[in-house]
Amino acid sequence: MAYDLAIVLPTFNERENVAPILDRLERALKGIHYEVIFVDDDSPDGTADVVRRMGLDNVRVLQRIGRRGLASACIEGILAAAAPIVAVMDADMQHDETVLPEMLLRVREENLDLVVGSRNMEGGSMGEFARWRVKLSQLGRRLSLMGANHALTDPMSGFFMVRLSAFQRFAHRLSGIGFKILLDIVLSADPGLRIGEMPYRFRPREHGESKLDILIGLEYFELLVDKNLGNLVNARFVIFGMVGALGVGVHLLILRLLLDFGRLSFAKGQAATTFVVMILNYVLNNSVTYRDRRLRGWKFWRGLFTFCLACGLGVVANVAIANEAFHRGVPWALAAVTGLLFSAVWNFGVTSMITWRQERRSSEKRARLRILASASAEAMNTDEPRGGNAPANMV
Ligand code: GDD
Ligand code: MN
Repeated sequence: MAYDLAIVLPTFNERENVAPILDRLERALKGIHYEVIFVDDDSPDGTADVVRRMGLDNVRVLQRIGRRGLASACIEGILAAAAPIVAVMDADMQHDETVLPEMLLRVREENLDLVVGSRNMEGGSMGEFARWRVKLSQLGRRLSLMGANHALTDPMSGFFMVRLSAFQRFAHRLSGIGFKILLDIVLSADPGLRIGEMPYRFRPREHGESKLDILIGLEYFELLVDKNLGNLVNARFVIFGMVGALGVGVHLLILRLLLDFGRLSFAKGQAATTFVVMILNYVLNNSVTYRDRRLRGWKFWRGLFTFCLACGLGVVANVAIANEAFHRGVPWALAAVTGLLFSAVWNFGVTSMITWRQERRSSEKRARLRILASASAEAMNTDEPRGGNAPANMV
């Protein structure tokens, strides 16, 4: 029998919540034929295996290796559904599963494309959310609604139900960055999307811990950049530029201190500061801008070397271009900014291709080698009948 509803549960280190959430879903969804799709980002605590061991027919796990991200996990889970209507909710029981049947009813009866669980409308609540999280959520909400086609009382919600056919209309436009899948949807969907809201009470977490941290906040910013300026600039480049700008500030500060207290000549001070700030920029870019490709161990040092080399060349080009422009009569500030912009683009372009290039995982490389090896072995055997090199056939 075909499924009526799919529940997508993104997980990262939620092993203790697997059995209880399945239990709650079973109680809440009596009479509804549903499937459950866990999307687990290879949790170190073995969440994926806990799901497998449950051995339930209607429950599967999509285990993603080498990937992280709540929004992209939700997208992939939704697209893997067999049911025509899909709910997304947290696996930690903070979202209220008892409203699911009514959500489903509304999607069907009111012919909606999307029903959003809202904490901010009559009957809903933030529950015992920490004060700072409430404030943060409100700030995020204000920021997010710039440029949206749809107004929602809780665009930050991670709890919603969507019609798969509607989702497929805008799936290719989603950014998939960060934590806020719903916001991504609202900013990507066509104005014709039919949306409803349902109040619910956000519950406190019982097991495990929240994954929301400062980097998630940064990803939120990246999502907004991507959705609002994505046609003009790459979100990663914006972060790279911000790190660079911070570097300039730190540079001026250190240089001032060195000149005041270090009794260094200007040239020596400038050289020493440049070196220090280059390392600082590398470390920041490695742990923030390229956190998804972070270099560790000896690769960290190799990366530092290629980063300094690339940026060093960037400086040379920057000075040459700015100098040339200045001597051709371009006003000094414009000439300087032109040189800086050039080196920013150069540094970003070169380091993204060399320092933080996307590497194939070595397991993937080994797998490809195995395929090649077996293909060539097969090619050498093609002229002979099956089992041709077995001794019995040689007589
Ligand atoms: N696959 C995957 N990958 N799952 C993740 C990741 C990830 O990188 N990060 C978090 N999750 C899973 C968690 O395991 C949990 O099931 C769910 O996503 C929510 O993560 P929490 O860390 O518990 O987030 P929260 O409680 O602080 O915030 C949640 O609720 C808010 C209110 O609805 C999120 O859903 C927010 O987006 C939402 O605003
Ligand atoms: Mn949570």
